[in-house]
Amino acid sequence: MEIIHLSAECYPIAKVGGLGDVVGALPKYQNKIGHMAKVVMPAYETKFLRENEFEVVYDGWGKLGFQNFPVRIFREKTNKLGFDLFLVHIAGLMDRPNVYGYPDDTERFLAFQIAVLDWIAQWEHRPDVIHCHDHHTGLVPFMTSYCNQYRHLRQIPTVLTIHNAQYQGQFGWDKLNYLPAFDVWKTAMLDWKGSINPLASAIKCAWRVTTVSPSYLDEISHKANGLEALFARERGKSVGILNGIDNEVWDPSADAMLEKQFDLRTVDNGKRANKEALCRVFNLDASKPLFTFIGRLVGEKGADLLPEIFYNALLQFKGRINVLVLGSGDPNVENWLNGLKEAFPGNYNAYIGYNEKLSHQIYAGADFLLMPSRVEPCGLNQMYALRYGTVPIVRRIGGLKDTVIDIGDGGFGICHDQTNVWDVGRAISRAMELYSDKKKVKEIRKFMMNIDHSWDKAAQEYINLYQI
Ligand code: ADP
Ligand code: GLC
Repeated sequence: MEIIHLSAECYPIAKVGGLGDVVGALPKYQNKIGHMAKVVMPAYETKFLRENEFEVVYDGWGKLGFQNFPVRIFREKTNKLGFDLFLVHIAGLMDRPNVYGYPDDTERFLAFQIAVLDWIAQWEHRPDVIHCHDHHTGLVPFMTSYCNQYRHLRQIPTVLTIHNAQYQGQFGWDKLNYLPAFDVWKTAMLDWKGSINPLASAIKCAWRVTTVSPSYLDEISHKANGLEALFARERGKSVGILNGIDNEVWDPSADAMLEKQFDLRTVDNGKRANKEALCRVFNLDASKPLFTFIGRLVGEKGADLLPEIFYNALLQFKGRINVLVLGSGDPNVENWLNGLKEAFPGNYNAYIGYNEKLSHQIYAGADFLLMPSRVEPCGLNQMYALRYGTVPIVRRIGGLKDTVIDIGDGGFGICHDQTNVWDVGRAISRAMELYSDKKKVKEIRKFMMNIDHSWDKAAQEYINLYQI
């Protein structure tokens, strides 16, 4: 099958979070099982763009309301990512360093979607499926279904994968004229609660909808930032497919970013070497358990509670515990987390910012990874932690519930029910107890590293879905 993935992020070109990881891996694994999956994304001003070779495959003009914009689409020449990569260059809109966060994000991603469809509309053949990821590409199913200029794309099946329903990309009806002319009686297919809502529109118009874990699909009929009723209504065409991880990128036995590589046989020495290196850099005590948090410092991740959680733990287990945080986001949380450094030198440290290499080193060197998420559609961190022999401490929600089994239930992780300081505090106490049982820790590490979360299975599940 020829599969076109449309996304705002794709690792290693541009990644803000897990969406990038998924779109950088799923197509590769679909190709490995004999398909032709391609990725089309915006051409941001990135290192990848500067350092690789491209050929131009399309030159044209798009239209956003009364404005014309120039479009140039590049194909990466070598196919080194394991899939064909197409970057959509739109001067003045997409050629910026960041993926999101600009006041004209609505215009940017609308222009991107229009440019992509203008291009596909010119092809002599039709792809077998257009797979849209999140709201940035959410108007594509509407446009292929109802815009006059894309009428001949109507028969191409569209799939929407929801990585996070918290973000929906809503904008006002005053921008309706940005869309190419469409059947006006279909206007309701754009609307949700008085706005044009790209995510809601995609849920209505896509042929199939997927969420990134089965539990998240169950949850969003009750809690989805205002879209609950819509999810309940469209449940029939929806399915939850658990994300995988890219075992080639996340492989402790071959990970060039680590101080020391390790496998099942060498895990204890390997983790010790990585922990010691990390502790040297961050002035921590490698003889004590190392707890970590890696991620976006936002409410969804429970990040606002981290300062209090760590403060309590560092007081309770005075001198017997280490904490290292890697993340960025809410400036208040960043300040609080930075502030703890002075209070607990030698036992606490934080790197505020984004650092891909350091994230690998922390997965490898830490003993425990916390994920007290309020919302977690899938979560990849816990799967990386498992593969690197780090015990996940997670809230039982979304994809965390689908991937982590508590040690009390014969599993390998530590689970808690709520995102609050007390539940997480108790979970940390349980982790401290576990850490003192060296034999058990060794056993669990091996067990976790043996769990197979590779993309092989999920890549096939998506193919089966496209064929329905
Ligand atoms: P989300 O997509 O909601 O942020 P996921 O768990 O799916 O959460 O994926 C997060 C991804 O982003 C992981 O690859 C994680 O290692 C990475 N990540 C998050 N924050 C940082 C950071 N500050 N530095 C490096 N990597 C980060
Ligand atoms: C989103 C979700 C996260 C998920 C990721 C990849 O960013 O917040 O839980 O793992 O997408 O699907």
